[in-house]
Amino acid sequence: MNVTECIKSRRSIRKYKPDAIDHSIIDSIVSTASYSPSWKNTQITRYIAIEDSSILSTIAEQFVPDFNAKIIRQAPMLIAVTYVKGRSGFERDGSFSTKKEDRWQMFDAGIASMSFCLAAEEQGLGTVIMGVFDEDGITGLLQIPEDRELAALIAIGYPDISPQAPKRKTVDVLLQYKSKTAPQAARHQI
Ligand SMILES: Cc1cc2nc3c(=O)[nH]c(=O)nc-3n(C[C@H](O)[C@H](O)[C@H](O)COP(=O)(O)O)c2cc1C
Repeated sequence: MNVTECIKSRRSIRKYKPDAIDHSIIDSIVSTASYSPSWKNTQITRYIAIEDSSILSTIAEQFVPDFNAKIIRQAPMLIAVTYVKGRSGFERDGSFSTKKEDRWQMFDAGIASMSFCLAAEEQGLGTVIMGVFDEDGITGLLQIPEDRELAALIAIGYPDISPQAPKRKTVDVLLQYKSKTAPQAARHQI
């Protein structure tokens, strides 16, 4: 599978087979995701792989809306994507490096999450990133330390469905060129 195939074939999977995932596979996915770019190579992203059914049930029952509970109830594993605070986007003295202030932290965690999902896809595993959850509730339940923050949840498992890709916007909409001389790019210019 080449990179383009991997990017295009990855879908958000919301229904899984009950089969457990070998830790060696999760280890290799995290190892691959560790090659993601990050702010000054700070590598702030940390993963908690939850397979304890009582923790999964508590999250499903108490800390996510129904549409995400349905996914988590039948996923063999849930990844809590966290990051170490105060490094990405920060100077050594603790001041912000840019106008985006601390938002580079979520940027880095997002890149790492995508790498994680693509590496999972290559292993035949389905994933779905979830952004709607009770952050304080899950932070308390998982005892995420003070110096870290929860960025997202990723359900992972062997897919039991193979959904079509939701419609994508066209390149015309997504891309603008700003160039002096390339006439073929003129229709994208503003
Ligand atoms: C930051 C982020 C948050 C998301 N949150 C949820 C969520 O809470 N629940 C869910 O079912 N899907 C969630 N998704 C998945 C998107 O709905 C999905 O990526 C989008 O519909 C495109 O489908 P595809 O991933 O199959 O290409 C989220 C995706 C991202 C990137």
